[in-house]
Amino acid sequence: MMLVSACLLSLCATAALSRGLDVVFEWKQLQFDLVVDRRNHVPENNVPVGLEVWKDKLFITVPRWKPGVPVSLAYVNIKEAGKNMSPVLKPYPNSEAHDLRGDNMTRLVSPFRVRADSCDRLWVLDTGLIDILGQVEHVGPNQLLVYDLNTDKLLRRYEIPHRFLKNETFFANIAVDVKANNCEQTFAYLADLGTNSLVVYRWETSRAWQVRHHYFHNDPMAGDYNVSGLNFQWTDGLFGLALSGEHAGYRTLYFHPFSSYSEFSVSTKVLQNETLWFNHTGETYHLFEHLGTRGPHSQSCASFLDEKTGVLFYTQVARNSVGCWNSRLPYNPATQGEVDANDVTMVFPNDVKVDRNRKLWVLTDRMPIFMYGKLNYSDVNFRILSAPVDRAIAQTVCADGSVSHSGSSYHIAVLPFVISCFVFTTHF
Ligand SMILES: *[C@@H]1O[C@H](CO)[C@@H](O)[C@H](O)[C@H]1NC(C)=O
Ligand SMILES: *[C@@H]1O[C@H](CO)[C@@H](O)[C@H](O)[C@H]1NC(C)=O
Ligand SMILES: *[C@@H]1O[C@H](CO)[C@@H](O)[C@H](O)[C@H]1NC(C)=O
Ligand SMILES: *[C@@H]1O[C@H](CO)[C@@H](O)[C@H](O)[C@H]1NC(C)=O
Ligand SMILES: *[C@@H]1O[C@H](CO)[C@@H](O)[C@H](O)[C@H]1NC(C)=O
Ligand SMILES: *[C@@H]1O[C@H](CO)[C@@H](O)[C@H](O)[C@H]1NC(C)=O
Repeated sequence: MMLVSACLLSLCATAALSRGLDVVFEWKQLQFDLVVDRRNHVPENNVPVGLEVWKDKLFITVPRWKPGVPVSLAYVNIKEAGKNMSPVLKPYPNSEAHDLRGDNMTRLVSPFRVRADSCDRLWVLDTGLIDILGQVEHVGPNQLLVYDLNTDKLLRRYEIPHRFLKNETFFANIAVDVKANNCEQTFAYLADLGTNSLVVYRWETSRAWQVRHHYFHNDPMAGDYNVSGLNFQWTDGLFGLALSGEHAGYRTLYFHPFSSYSEFSVSTKVLQNETLWFNHTGETYHLFEHLGTRGPHSQSCASFLDEKTGVLFYTQVARNSVGCWNSRLPYNPATQGEVDANDVTMVFPNDVKVDRNRKLWVLTDRMPIFMYGKLNYSDVNFRILSAPVDRAIAQTVCADGSVSHSGSSYHIAVLPFVISCFVFTTHF
């Protein structure tokens, strides 16, 4: 017995050492695999924003913030990259799809976030904008482009109807909900951070409707940001979207505005009911829930939920960190865990995903320095970090998910430290 505990303790020491996220890829500047055509590539204007992982492919979005972005959606083959930590990015689905000459409606202009669903489809939410930080211009519609990941063929193009758009419209994030593993029964939730609304798209009928709620708005007291010595103010509304596992045919959508310290939720039963939103009335207001707040400096853009543990991961841009919350616990500052934080490698965590093998992925990109300062291109600016989910949450409050819920009082079963280490060691 003594031997066993000693052994466990030494494993725990190992666990403590390798806690947090590993840097998998890193770039000083992005380089693209453009054999024939290096159209107006201005490397210092290319900053990655969103990520997704499907099988061996790691996708990265590169919105056209400034001129000189030749490819706005690219990928890396993780296996082929091997030990090369700064691989060249390949255009997705191909180089032609990024050609802005002519008026081909299936081209990709400026997607911010993409999502690979369990039916091997890649959902690309394109803003259609170029020169976003300069003379911003729409050269394409706000639209969804859905690809078959096995063939890289475009399956569908859907333009978001004009009645849902305003000048401030900005679609920066998407969640995709496949019901009961039926690929036809899929809904996509598109967050417009500019008009504080959510567009719900139904794959089966190719129809969409708009959901509005006060909880989609920014909190005016949470709009001041400090990142790497830069101070700026943002009013971004609805951003973080994360879906729970399915229960009785529906999921819970956890969501938050970017400039906010709060987390909210709503059942997808509410979102998927088109008639409920056809003539929008006050009856929908109380179907949304305010879960609680995280505390100061906790503004967050992207979030993602691991269905097995129910742990919600979220980026914390003003803390250079990734936080976690176990959705079985009440929501308050004490129940928030920190997966990792780093003032060099994690400056501005911009996207977070969990892949099918329950691996956590994070993209960090120093974006405010790009926008308001000057990136040092002799230094590493963009990173992809990763860790298995169970290792990422080991030794955080998020691992202690075994909570017995009786009435309105919660009892958190504080499991021995050893247990979480044991969970960790099973993933060696
Ligand atoms: C439009 O672009 C797609 C690639 O996204 C290409 O396959 C197609 O041939 C193009 N169509 C025209 C008319 O150029
Ligand atoms: C919206 O944009 C259009 C075209 O750029 C412009 O003419 C119009 O004045 C704008 N409306 C508002 C309310 O800013
Ligand atoms: C950001 O930094 C400024 C200057 O130090 C400070 O006045 C301000 O309170 C800070 N804001 C936040 C939200 O921490
Ligand atoms: C959708 O909402 C309407 C109006 O509140 C309600 O009558 C109907 O039962 C709902 N449908 C579903 C499937 O929940
Ligand atoms: C929506 O409202 C319009 C006008 O107020 C009414 O004619 C229509 O029947 C309503 N539709 C539904 C589905 O309630
Ligand atoms: C830029 O980054 C390089 C590499 O980290 C470093 O040696 C250099 O001092 C940095 N330059 C500035 C101006 O910070």
